[in-house]
Amino acid sequence: MQATAQAREIFDLLHDDLSAIEREFRADSVSAVPAITEIGEYLRAGGGKRIRPALLLLAARLFGYAGSAAIRLGAVVEIIHTATLVHDDIIDEAEVRRGRPSANTQWGNSKCVLAGDWLYMQAFKIAVQERNFRILDLLIELTQQMVEGELIQMETLGRRVTMEQYFDLIHRKTAFLFSVCMRLGAILGGATDEQEQRLGEFGRTVGMAFQIIDDVLDLTASEEILGKPVASDLREGKLTMAAIHALDRCTPAEAQQIEAVLRDRSFHRVSHRAIAEILERYGAIEAAYDEAVRYANQARTAICVFPDSEIKRALLWMPDFVVARTS
Ligand code: IPE
Ligand code: IPE
Ligand code: MG
Ligand code: MG
Repeated sequence: MQATAQAREIFDLLHDDLSAIEREFRADSVSAVPAITEIGEYLRAGGGKRIRPALLLLAARLFGYAGSAAIRLGAVVEIIHTATLVHDDIIDEAEVRRGRPSANTQWGNSKCVLAGDWLYMQAFKIAVQERNFRILDLLIELTQQMVEGELIQMETLGRRVTMEQYFDLIHRKTAFLFSVCMRLGAILGGATDEQEQRLGEFGRTVGMAFQIIDDVLDLTASEEILGKPVASDLREGKLTMAAIHALDRCTPAEAQQIEAVLRDRSFHRVSHRAIAEILERYGAIEAAYDEAVRYANQARTAICVFPDSEIKRALLWMPDFVVARTS
């Protein structure tokens, strides 16, 4: 509750800039080809938390930066995020995203692959306007990390993964983008290398906590609240932190049950309830929460050297918001 109230304050603080980013995103996703504009508009209008542009804005504002490049780059990171979601939903054969039918169910996979590619390139087209190679380096590295993350995940589907593999995966898939958002804001703000590194570390650790919680919510929340189907990770053959924690501790018979769901990609042979009981028995959900809290603490530590300000306080709340979120 507390974290929610504070999150509202952060988003209030950024309200005008986030609105400007929405307008930029809207203008940026118009193409001469109607299908692209329609898909782009459907995705943008679907909403989303806009946490990545919020991080970028906070990082830039920490140095007093208030120029229009933060609006453009805020749109860039949200467009890249959107493109990865379109592709991800095709790969995962997902039918629901942000509480409505995913784009792939409306336009089909082929058009959505192309719309995703177009959005990636549109993001780069806007970023190039800054004429700054450091910005481009970050965005290129980011895109490759995310693609590698998706590929690594695909190759481990249905199989056991170690905790190290899981952390590497969520770093590529999610935390890297959070880190890039903070670094882009720092670059705009004229940060020193050390300051940029600290903000990047903040983004990375907030991103790790964010994905760990996302994975916990997949196991514990309801579809109504989450806006996407629950227990979908196991049904997609994906092991996440809580299940890995349980697998590392449980009996061979219990492990066989988890592995059966992973292999079958369904709860036909073993019920969702039975899996929940195994996770419960080994305190797996709490262990994942504890890990997310550890990352949240690391995030706060990473920025402790910056002088106190309203923006720093907003950044310090971000890890709490991420850990306490329910959707
Ligand atoms: C979804 O990200 C993909 C993950 C990295 C888990 P968000 O949860 O930020 O998605 P939206 O933009 O708010 O819908
Ligand atoms: C997150 O992957 C999407 C990317 C960051 C590319 P997931 O497949 O785990 O996320 P959701 O659950 O579909 O949002
Ligand atoms: Mg997915
Ligand atoms: Mg996926």
